[in-house]
Amino acid sequence: MNHVVNEVGHNAGHEDIVLKLLNVESAYGPIKAIRGVSLQVKKGEIATVLGSNGAGKTTILKTISGIIDPRKGSVEFKGQNITAMDPAHIVQRGLMHVPEGREVFPLLSIRDNLLMGAYTRNDRDGVARDMEAVFNYFPILRERAAQDAGLLSGGQQQMLAISRALMANPDLILLDEPSLGLSPKLTKEIFEIVVRINRERGTTLLLVEQNANMALNASDYGYVLENGRIVMEDTCARLREKDDIKEFYLGLKEEGVRADRRWKKKKTWR
Ligand SMILES: Nc1ncnc2c1ncn2[C@@H]1O[C@H](COP(=O)(O)OP(=O)(O)O)[C@@H](O)[C@H]1O
Ligand SMILES: [Mg+2]
Repeated sequence: MNHVVNEVGHNAGHEDIVLKLLNVESAYGPIKAIRGVSLQVKKGEIATVLGSNGAGKTTILKTISGIIDPRKGSVEFKGQNITAMDPAHIVQRGLMHVPEGREVFPLLSIRDNLLMGAYTRNDRDGVARDMEAVFNYFPILRERAAQDAGLLSGGQQQMLAISRALMANPDLILLDEPSLGLSPKLTKEIFEIVVRINRERGTTLLLVEQNANMALNASDYGYVLENGRIVMEDTCARLREKDDIKEFYLGLKEEGVRADRRWKKKKTWR
């Protein structure tokens, strides 16, 4: 598959590509978790990697942020090779990772958790402005700013983890399964705010999710990961219309002749 230019026009000048993975392979001892993963994220978009449990989503993000060194392949961020670079240096370059399970600092206040996100910055006015911005996106964090983060609910901790990443004013945020363990209602709420953040602030995101429905609705471009390999990629608008995506990831199955006809009509884009 050609990952630079393809049939749907996910092609961009090099300056528009924030992140590029080329044939990345990562393993845990003898277990190959991802095999030859190539993908790219364009400036200003939300890209998503969909995959079921164990597909290799977290491994992709850990490899990008330097927590795992790949066996093969390369990771390029803003045109520079960051493969196997020290995670702290990758953060300094403007790449923030919101890990699976949020990992906020439970004994620090919400305000101090947010300031931890901004530790690489020395523009105090900018930090104050961004703190105000995240409080506007997630008002509950303002209300509880002085409380220990460990007292927050799972959903609120997810909000805090996303906000902490925003406090770095990064060029790219990696978001690992924000829906995990949250109610559908809370998941929807968080996704809506993530989309607003992307549209209003131009924040570029790479989101990995099992919740294909939420991820496909929120994102611009998507990759489908199975057993450590990318098996499909397209705009999310098109992925949402694909037969096997509907069946296997969205749990929708059209039945009957009428539905079948409708489906054939819809498929004319092919
Ligand atoms: N620390 C680890 N040690 C050994 N195997 C691991 C480890 N972490 C993940 N794996 C294996 O790597 C594969 C991909 O895992 P992961 O990237 O966590 O998938 P996902 O995030 O899509 O659920 C799975 O088969 C998983 O069992
Ligand atoms: Mg995972």
